[in-house]
Amino acid sequence: MVARERDVRPIGVFDSGVGGLTVLRALQARLPGEDFIYLGDTARLPYGSKSRETVERYSLQCARVLIARGVRALVVACNTASAAALPALRAAHPELQVFGVIEPGAIAAVRATASRRIAVIATPATVQGRAYELQIHARAPEARVRALACPLFVALAEEGWTEGPVAEAVARRYLAPLFETVERPDVLVLGCTHFPLLRPVIRAAIPADTALVDSAETTAAEVATALGGTGAARGSGKLTWLATDGAARFAQVGSRFLGRTIEPQEVELVDL
Ligand code: DGL
Repeated sequence: MVARERDVRPIGVFDSGVGGLTVLRALQARLPGEDFIYLGDTARLPYGSKSRETVERYSLQCARVLIARGVRALVVACNTASAAALPALRAAHPELQVFGVIEPGAIAAVRATASRRIAVIATPATVQGRAYELQIHARAPEARVRALACPLFVALAEEGWTEGPVAEAVARRYLAPLFETVERPDVLVLGCTHFPLLRPVIRAAIPADTALVDSAETTAAEVATALGGTGAARGSGKLTWLATDGAARFAQVGSRFLGRTIEPQEVELVDL
């Protein structure tokens, strides 16, 4: 019997900036032999303060660039874009498997909560769209969900200020009020892919018995099941970097976070 030819085309991953690297890292751990093309739309970051229509348009543009490079699947490694653009992306590209991060995050949150009190931190756009509430309530209608916008975390992550007194003060200022109530949540969802870059300072600002949930791991598990069924390596583990601005900063923050050097000249600047 002739073995079916393997699909060696890369997987496309995009975010407004470096946040999606948290998802890429989890994807790579699950699918080490796959090739990935990562696009950070750093010129137009943040997405979280923009309207749904704008984020949808930007997301369709990101997808077009990745599809032109021959990806066989798309991972929307951004909660804001997942909330705003998944239906439009799927409608525009029915031939492509498109994965988002919100549903996997909601599933993980429902799994982790005992008290059914869940707090979600995200961008203003994700909070306004009630994306997590909808997905959590679809699985646990009785759950009480409090969502809070924390846009400064995105700026801190992009700047590489993920630890130290500034990040600590911002984390305390945002998070302390969420837990100063008798009915405090037992789960905190990091509903923005930038936030896991600040995980240690977020962890330090909340009660120790609060479970922290981010969707990187659950999203990667879903993608691996859907695409990596054979478990066999397909590509060579190659990573291609695209950004719309600021190659040097992308390379610097990305290197630190991924624990491997990304040279600024490896980051190709693209115009969407
Ligand atoms: N990382 C993105 C998210 O998960 C958004 C950051 C931003 O551009 O505002 O929502």
